[in-house]
Amino acid sequence: MPASNLDDIISLAKRKGFIFQSSEIYGGLNGCYDYGPLGVELLNNIKQSWWKSMTYREDVEGIDASILMHPRVWDASGHTSQFSDPMIDNKTTKRRFRADNLIEEHIQKLRKKGKTAIADELEKKLDAVQNNSEYYDLIIGAEIKDEGSADWTDVKNFNLMFKTFIGPVEDSGAVVYLRPESAQGIFVNFKNVMESARQKVPFGIAQIGKAFRNEINTKNFVFRTREFEQMEMQYFVKPGEEMEAFEKWQETRLDWYRGLGIPSDRLRVKPHEKLAHYANRAADIEYNFPFGFGEIEGIHSRTDFDLSKHQEFSGKKLEYVDTVNKERYVPYVIETSGGVTRSLMAFLCEAYEKEQITDDKGREDQRAVLRLHYDLAPLKVAVFPLVNKEGMPEKARAIFNDIQKSYKAQYDHAGAIGKRYRRQDEVGTPYCVTIDGDTMESGTVTIRDRDTMAQETISADNIKQYIENQNSA
Ligand code: GAP
Repeated sequence: MPASNLDDIISLAKRKGFIFQSSEIYGGLNGCYDYGPLGVELLNNIKQSWWKSMTYREDVEGIDASILMHPRVWDASGHTSQFSDPMIDNKTTKRRFRADNLIEEHIQKLRKKGKTAIADELEKKLDAVQNNSEYYDLIIGAEIKDEGSADWTDVKNFNLMFKTFIGPVEDSGAVVYLRPESAQGIFVNFKNVMESARQKVPFGIAQIGKAFRNEINTKNFVFRTREFEQMEMQYFVKPGEEMEAFEKWQETRLDWYRGLGIPSDRLRVKPHEKLAHYANRAADIEYNFPFGFGEIEGIHSRTDFDLSKHQEFSGKKLEYVDTVNKERYVPYVIETSGGVTRSLMAFLCEAYEKEQITDDKGREDQRAVLRLHYDLAPLKVAVFPLVNKEGMPEKARAIFNDIQKSYKAQYDHAGAIGKRYRRQDEVGTPYCVTIDGDTMESGTVTIRDRDTMAQETISADNIKQYIENQNSA
């Protein structure tokens, strides 16, 4: 059973060095997190798996664009005028909310109280909202309160882009933004990549990188943060071929999550009913978090909106010339846009399990185990000397030194062997290797599997081969 309580994940993440609050010793910075020794390994493994699956193919190239871009990029993309959320303040409690989230949370509360019909009606109205005053009317009409107060301001638009200045003078001509999505770095490089990599439509450009949004409310640990990482791919197709590409990429992306251990019934695809100004089709891939289904990736059919706008604003042609069929056009785009940090949280929740076990001495025990896919596990192997004498630590060290040339590994000699297993189970290490008396006499070690807890005796010389055999595709 995956995690049913987010607090278990938050506690594990801090205790074991996956995720810390940013600037914790100063009281923390809201909506920002630091990834610790195991967290950074997990992040890197997710990114590496994505990068391999998305770019180790003929028709997708990778790039790494800068975070700061020319300010006109954001005028062209519509972010300066439209990238905002509806914000409302409570005048009594002085707290600020995203108006749509406030209503959504109220709907959830109604459902918990069994007031399904009222919740359904409110949800229908929320889906149909067209402007800020309609949000306000819903909040007032549903008598939504914050700590007993219904003293709300009007709903206003709040632009989510972080602004800063380039150079020493802080005037309007020097304004730049921290990118709120990595996608625009791909669009502005469409021609550069196509020409330098000699690609022909259809082809894609992929990128992993940081994005920043001044979210009104951050929530659910690293689900919604102000600084996060995205893994995005834009696939350029001939107009009219976008729906077929949409289906294909949606399935490809679902397969990636399934292949890394998230079963189909814990994922769902939610088509967008209200489409963004640039899209002619969109869907979210959602994961069933402990707090309910939440988006982990968006699949968007963005038409020729972005390239056409950049063509218009930059004055540079961004067309594709098909010399075979003698036609030219601005390509349409299918975008796959996943969150690295959000999917990390999904992988952690899915892998986490508490189970009753019987220990080596036949006693009942409980263990917390992270059943992470081998490719994602931060540590692949742990090496233990059974006891800290009789030459075992020296032998174990020698084996560990050899193993860590190939795998991220850990040496642990502290405490009873059962305790050492539990420590590794909790951080998802797939294999524990124990050096015992037999190693000293006949060169064998015990290798123990995290999931089955089965132990096998193998030659110390075959550890790497054993792991490779177990994990070859
Ligand atoms: N280029 C399209 C785009 O950025 P999006 O749906 O706004 O689309 C894509 O974001 C993904 O980025 C989301 O599915 C999510 O995984 C991640 N993401 C977006 N905002 C986030 C936030 N505030 N914190 C963490 N991840 C976020």
